[in-house]
Amino acid sequence: MTDNPGPAARGGHVTVCEVGPRDGFQAEETFIPTDRKIAIVDGLFAAGVRHVQVTSFVSPRAVPQLRDAEEVLSGITRPPGAVVAALVANQKGAERAGTAGVDIVHGVLSASETHNLKNVNRPVAKSLEDMKGIAATLSGAGVAIEGGIATAFGCPFEGPVPAERVGRIARAYQELGAVRVSLGDTTGMATPLTVAAAIRAIREAAPGMPIGLHFHNTRGVGLACVMTGLSMGVTHYDASIGGLGGCPFAAGATGNICTEDLVYLLAESGYETGIDLDALIGVAERTQETIGRPLPGQVMKAGPRLRRHDPELTRHAAG
Ligand code: COA
Ligand code: ZN
Repeated sequence: MTDNPGPAARGGHVTVCEVGPRDGFQAEETFIPTDRKIAIVDGLFAAGVRHVQVTSFVSPRAVPQLRDAEEVLSGITRPPGAVVAALVANQKGAERAGTAGVDIVHGVLSASETHNLKNVNRPVAKSLEDMKGIAATLSGAGVAIEGGIATAFGCPFEGPVPAERVGRIARAYQELGAVRVSLGDTTGMATPLTVAAAIRAIREAAPGMPIGLHFHNTRGVGLACVMTGLSMGVTHYDASIGGLGGCPFAAGATGNICTEDLVYLLAESGYETGIDLDALIGVAERTQETIGRPLPGQVMKAGPRLRRHDPELTRHAAG
């Protein structure tokens, strides 16, 4: 056995979609200056990240932090192959997204009634109905749509969410032309077993529909859930730089799984992401500076697995 055998087998390409500039920043109370937001997105692109959820087009009264959505989008520098995404919850958001130069809208509605009411102020059935209009508007503007399903693995207000309900919503998204459904684990209630059940339910209700997974690490099992997704062939994961994140309209919400930690896990498991881990850690450090408090990410603190420490600088336990 060598010290570093490297990945045993290439596991293929996995897409990492960075959602920190939306899911992360929306949870911050102090306004992050627009040029700092732009610098972080540009840093992510420079590190090789190609899918970034840059902002959201929601009510500035609901989420004041992201009131500069249009300015951020016009300030970023897109490398070739960049896929720029933004979150949208209603028709007005779709109209804004249609003229702001996004490639894909991440639509959002919840699998549970109470969270949907808290988050977008309408019943789930009305959100689903609205989503048809949103999809039509976006299609006219040449913008793709990903179908987001929040509280897909449980609701902080209602408790369990049946996998069949998630399957039915996925089917509705498939019918309106979404390119993928994304299962949102809004308050970190997913476990490997519930992830497997939801994936199976979608494959049954909406055969052929690509799946993305969006975990929060609220209970420390986010990356275990990723392993379950990988074992079932899911190759699209959201994550947040430094482990920022959390929905302001869900009790007990905390950060997403951390992008550097995910990229580290994927690389060490033989998957290819196109992302440079050292450069990504640099972006996490700069994000932490911008936010002004320690972020939960672990690899940014420990460094990559083979980081060497100077023995001279470490205590010796001689008696
Ligand atoms: N962009 C900008 N302004 C918007 C907007 C949008 N997408 N949608 C609504 N507004 C404005 C309206 O113009 C209206 O403004 P006015 O009072 O000055 O005329 C006001 O917001 C209320 O509009 P209404 O359609 O009645 O919205 P609502 O009060 O029922 O709220 C949402 C619904 C969807 C706009 C709001 O709940 C929301 O923005 N939710 C998003 C929450 C979010 O981002 N959560 C995190 C993601 S998980
Ligand atoms: Zn989230």
